[in-house]
Amino acid sequence: FFLSLTSCQTQKVAEDNEQLSREERIVIRFSHIVGEKTPKGMAARKFASLVKEKSNGFVEVQVFPNGYLYKDGEEIDALLRGDIQMIAPATAKISSYVPEWQAIDLPFAFQDTDEVHEYLEGNVGNKLLNELERKGFYPLGMWENGFKQMTNTSKPLVKPEDFRGLRFRIMPSEIIRQQFLELKAELQTNSFNEVYQLLEKNKIDGQENTYSNIVSKGIHSQQKYMTVSNHGYLGYVVLLKKEFWDKLPEDIQQILQESIEEVTAWEKTMARKLNDESLQELKNCGCVEIHYLSEEEKQLWEEALKPIYQRFTNRFGAEYIKQLPRNKE
Ligand code: LMR
Repeated sequence: FFLSLTSCQTQKVAEDNEQLSREERIVIRFSHIVGEKTPKGMAARKFASLVKEKSNGFVEVQVFPNGYLYKDGEEIDALLRGDIQMIAPATAKISSYVPEWQAIDLPFAFQDTDEVHEYLEGNVGNKLLNELERKGFYPLGMWENGFKQMTNTSKPLVKPEDFRGLRFRIMPSEIIRQQFLELKAELQTNSFNEVYQLLEKNKIDGQENTYSNIVSKGIHSQQKYMTVSNHGYLGYVVLLKKEFWDKLPEDIQQILQESIEEVTAWEKTMARKLNDESLQELKNCGCVEIHYLSEEEKQLWEEALKPIYQRFTNRFGAEYIKQLPRNKE
């Protein structure tokens, strides 16, 4: 077996062993794709400093933001290859590995973040996390951003038919794809860091994202309209490769676990604060006309998007939708 390893691979194995020996520091390269002044960006930095403090500098978490190291289409593979040790992709982006995670992207599935937490802490959440382990990941925690809003340049999006023919950038997720198809919009999948340029070059009309993601990338400066629809939740799974996690000494695992718990509690508050501040900025900039979806308008959107629920049930079974907090009451 060893003879079949290339010299590069042999060196890698040697480095791995060295990394985990007690004399050498452990380095965890944490790559993510958003800016530093975002809920994920700030949480990643806080996690790094907590781990350093709790391990007396023995474990160094190096944070690489803005997709500098890997774009969002690449970071999961890079993690599984062992090139980086930690990522926090949007749940939509892990759905190509565990498609059931698309449940989180069902339109209007959750009314607020408490409902999301309740859902993820129940049976469905457990099942989703176990599936990730089966695919070779170690889910260390869940971070959140908030609810997505629609922005575009062509017209105010008030009724479902307003989407007709407009082109949107989406994250890779079958459910999100179906959402725009049901609205008769056109769509394309791109990584987050391409959105600004696509808008600037008029390659797309619009996109959906949270206030903090919109503002952190200046997306609003390229858009005329925003509809506050809160139609979908954006959250993250903090992931390591299971094989890497299993090799870590137990006391180090405990430090990482304690740190993530501390950061996660803080991150939820920070996400709310950053999104509130970003909404304020959107109101103040005078660059986007904001429409708040009324209850009646929301019902029309929900009605138009209903077929997605049936298709999801046909494919994955009824429990994902039955367990949604709004269906349990
Ligand atoms: C997006 O691609 O729009 C988001 O996943 C970015 C992020 O990670 O918040």
